[in-house]
Amino acid sequence: MAKRVRVGVIGLGFAGTEHLKGYRATAPEAEVVALCDLQPDLLAKKADEFGIKTTFTDYHKMLAMDGLDAVDVCIPNDFHAPATLDSLRAGKHVICEKPPARSAKEARQMADMAKKMGKTLMYAVVLRFTSAAQYLKGCIDEGMLGDIYFGRTVYHRRRGIPFGAKSWFVDKKRAGGGALIDIGVHALDLAWWLMGAPKPKAVSGAAYAKFAHLVPPGVRYDVEDSAFAMIRFANDATLIVECSWSLNQAGGSIQQLAGTKGGAEMHPLKIFTEQNGVLADLTPQPVGNDWYGDEVRHFVTSIQNRRTPLATAEQGFQLMQMLDAVYESQSLGREVRIR
Ligand SMILES: NC(=O)c1ccc[n+]([C@@H]2O[C@H](COP(=O)([O-])OP(=O)(O)OC[C@H]3O[C@@H](n4cnc5c(N)ncnc54)[C@H](O)[C@@H]3O)[C@@H](O)[C@H]2O)c1
Repeated sequence: MAKRVRVGVIGLGFAGTEHLKGYRATAPEAEVVALCDLQPDLLAKKADEFGIKTTFTDYHKMLAMDGLDAVDVCIPNDFHAPATLDSLRAGKHVICEKPPARSAKEARQMADMAKKMGKTLMYAVVLRFTSAAQYLKGCIDEGMLGDIYFGRTVYHRRRGIPFGAKSWFVDKKRAGGGALIDIGVHALDLAWWLMGAPKPKAVSGAAYAKFAHLVPPGVRYDVEDSAFAMIRFANDATLIVECSWSLNQAGGSIQQLAGTKGGAEMHPLKIFTEQNGVLADLTPQPVGNDWYGDEVRHFVTSIQNRRTPLATAEQGFQLMQMLDAVYESQSLGREVRIR
C-alpha cells in the first residue's frame, strides 16, 4: 500500500469542514494529523467533531511539527499566497482553495515555489470533480465534440452577496475582487478546463457594483457584484463569462460548449451531436458524487503516485491572469492582451 499522507488543514470554515469530511472518506490513504484556525472555540469544536488531537492557532507552528506531509489551505484569499509559500518552503505538498490567489503575481510566486521545492501544488477547483464534469471531460477527450471553439459559462445568484461573518469576501484588499474572483472563478475554470485549458490571449471585460445598498452600513464594500467578459485564446477559441452575486435575473449556472463535431451543456447535462445523418441530443445521467471527497482523494493519490494533479499550479496562474485581465479591462475600458 502507498504511504499514508498526513495532512494539516488551515481554516475551518465552510471549505475547511468540507475538506475534513473528504479526508475522513479518504482514510486510510489520508490522515488529518493537525488543525489550525485563528478561532480557538471553532478549533476545539472541529477537533472534537473529527477526532483530531493536535491543534494550532498559528500555522507557522503547525508547519514545524514532525510527521506532516501536506497542507490544505482553506483560509481567506489574502492568506492563500503566504500560507502556500510558507508550507511549500517547509517542504509540504499543498492543496489551496479557489481562487488560487488575489492576483496572477501571487499565483506566479506560488507556482515557482512549488517547482523549486519539487512539491505538489494543486488548486481546489471542485467543480472539475462533479461526476457530470468528469463524464463530459471524458467525452471531450475521446473527440466527441471535435475542436471546441466557443463556450459560454454562467454562475448567477439573484441575491447572494456574502457578508456578516464572511465580510472579508467583499473587501478588495482581502479577497482580491468580488463576484468574479469568488464564484466567477468556478464557472470560468470549469468551462476553460473542459475546453482543454487553451492559453488565454486577450480579454474584454466589465464589472459592476450596483447593490451596495444591500450591504450593512460599516461593512467595507469595494468589489463588484457582477462581471461579464469575453476571453480569446491562442487557439482562436472564445469563452463568454457571466457571473453575479446579485443581478436582476434568475439565479443559476450553465456551461455551453460548441465544437466542430458536437456541443454540450451542463445543468442538466446534454450532448448535442449528429448520428447516422440526424441531429441527436443525448441526456447522460451521471450519478451524484461527493465532489469534495473526490477532490481531496485526488490530491492524496497525486502525491502518493507522484502524478501531476488535475488542477495544476500553472493553470492557477493562467486562471488568475484571466481574472486580472477582466478587472484591468474594466478600468481601462478596452480589451487587454495577455502575454
Ligand atoms: N470550493 C468551494 O466550494 C468553496 C466554498 C467556500 C469557500 N471557498 C474558499 O475557501 C476559502 C475559505 O472560505 P470559507 O467560506 O471557508 O471562509 P470562512 O470565513 O467561513 O472560514 C475561514 C476560516 O479561516 C480562519 N482563518 C482566517 N485566517 C486565518 C489564518 N491566518 N490562519 C488560520 N486560520 C485562519 C477563520 O478563523 C475562519 O474560521 C476562501 O478562499 C474561499 O474562496 C471555496
